[in-house]
Amino acid sequence: MKLQNGYKVTFLPEERIAVVKHGTSLLEAARKAGVILPTRCGGKAACLMCKVTVEQQESGALRPPGEAEQRKLGSLLEQGVRLACQAAVCSDVNVSVPEDPLKAAVRRRLEAARRGERDELW
Ligand code: FES
Repeated sequence: MKLQNGYKVTFLPEERIAVVKHGTSLLEAARKAGVILPTRCGGKAACLMCKVTVEQQESGALRPPGEAEQRKLGSLLEQGVRLACQAAVCSDVNVSVPEDPLKAAVRRRLEAARRGERDELW
């Protein structure tokens, strides 16, 4: 469904939303929504740090992957993984952003501490 001003891109799990024009990259949409996606290559499909996931049923909401994205992601494309710098919005879409590795490590340790488990490194 096209909103009056563009398409609605929802970044999960935080449910941050951006409304963007047709053809906007997910990386640009993320910035607009206040979601920080790591990048090192400046959006040239080289660093693979901007990976996000889109459910298979929503894959049509993004422009099909180009040659560079296909070459970089290979079989990950079948799992719904896309490069945010390359994937362009064609419709409303929900995008899952992977948890920051450092935050994930801290969360796991806090959960273990709550369960009363001891960690040698903690
Ligand atoms: S920003 Fe480097 S691959 Fe997307």
